[in-house]
Amino acid sequence: MNYLNKKTVEDLDVAGKKVLVRCDLNVPVLEGKITNSHRIKESLKTINYLVGKNAKVILCSHLGRPKGIMPEFSLATVAKYLNEVANLPVKMAKDSVGADAKALAANLQNGEVVLLENLRFHEQETRNDPAFAEQLASLADFFVNDAFGAAHRAHSSTAGVCKFLPCAIGYLMLKELKILSEAINSPKRPLVAILGGAKVSDKIGVIHSLLDKVDVLILGGGMAYTFAKASGFNVGRSICEEDKLDTARDIKLKAEEKGVKLLLPSDYVVASDFSNDADFKTVPLSQIPDDYMGMDIGAETAETFSNTIGQAAGGTVIWNGPMGVCEFKNFEKGTKTLAKTIAQTDIISIIGGGDSAAAIEQMGLSEKMTHISTGGGASLKFFEGANLPGISSVDDK
Ligand code: 3PG
Repeated sequence: MNYLNKKTVEDLDVAGKKVLVRCDLNVPVLEGKITNSHRIKESLKTINYLVGKNAKVILCSHLGRPKGIMPEFSLATVAKYLNEVANLPVKMAKDSVGADAKALAANLQNGEVVLLENLRFHEQETRNDPAFAEQLASLADFFVNDAFGAAHRAHSSTAGVCKFLPCAIGYLMLKELKILSEAINSPKRPLVAILGGAKVSDKIGVIHSLLDKVDVLILGGGMAYTFAKASGFNVGRSICEEDKLDTARDIKLKAEEKGVKLLLPSDYVVASDFSNDADFKTVPLSQIPDDYMGMDIGAETAETFSNTIGQAAGGTVIWNGPMGVCEFKNFEKGTKTLAKTIAQTDIISIIGGGDSAAAIEQMGLSEKMTHISTGGGASLKFFEGANLPGISSVDDK
């Protein structure tokens, strides 16, 4: 599918018109404070463009995965950020549909912005309920989808609403599509993909697609233990998908057939428990004790992976998923070593959202990366070549 032929916000005549904009303002919030505002910042270009064009802007988004109305998932935190930090005056609606949202939308003046409350306070949203989509659409004259992070979801506010309004994609979406398309379809080679995260089952599709495109595939994180077990190693109490051992073997075979260099960890940091305070040590792949679990890649592996990245200078690296349990200080080293190596290497670096991006931001290395995607799951689906309903539903040019 050619996503780049989609109408963009510039194709709409928005002056004086009400424009519903789906953003992904699903940012991490801790004790009422936003801990990473990357998604909000990236959303501002489209919003400011519409304000500058004298549109009446109605923003909507989800935040987290609430079950019904849960105040801790209110987008009021984001409204506060927009008002106070991003200098964007924004009114907040009590709900995403209903009388208050309708009245605020109807009374908007040109260039004004309203933010609707969390879409997921209505369970109809994730069911892609057409009646809910129609209610959202009734607030506006146009729809702009700029929520790349939610583009892999077929929800009322991403795909459903397109049936009821002339629609387009925004600047954030366009930027993601251009950068990710180029990285996967016409990359500077060698092309190295690094995948981490817990489960093989989540990544089977993308691994198969990547094997058709990449020169090197590095696998770390929790899923590596399934590969280790598939090769006959004891993995102790490490996370392991017993029903995916054949899949792991197939992937290894396919890599061989395709001439893709597949790198897996040769040593691990293992711990007595899933805790930062657990007893831990580094062991070779062949010596994971029965009563220990793998928590990070070992120093030898980190060095091998780093050398491979270094050798790919001048090329491209795509990274999604941490190498270990990086939310625990004692097990963040592997992920951090890779982040540092990528930052120091002259290489086009495309980072999927989520934990690997968070590690990079926490280390202050964001500026050293070519692109940090606003989508974790969405970027994986994109690299897999899967349909992204939030984009395919948008009108073609
Ligand atoms: C994300 O954080 O990946 C997106 O905002 C999508 O959220 P979801 O996985 O809850 O649909």
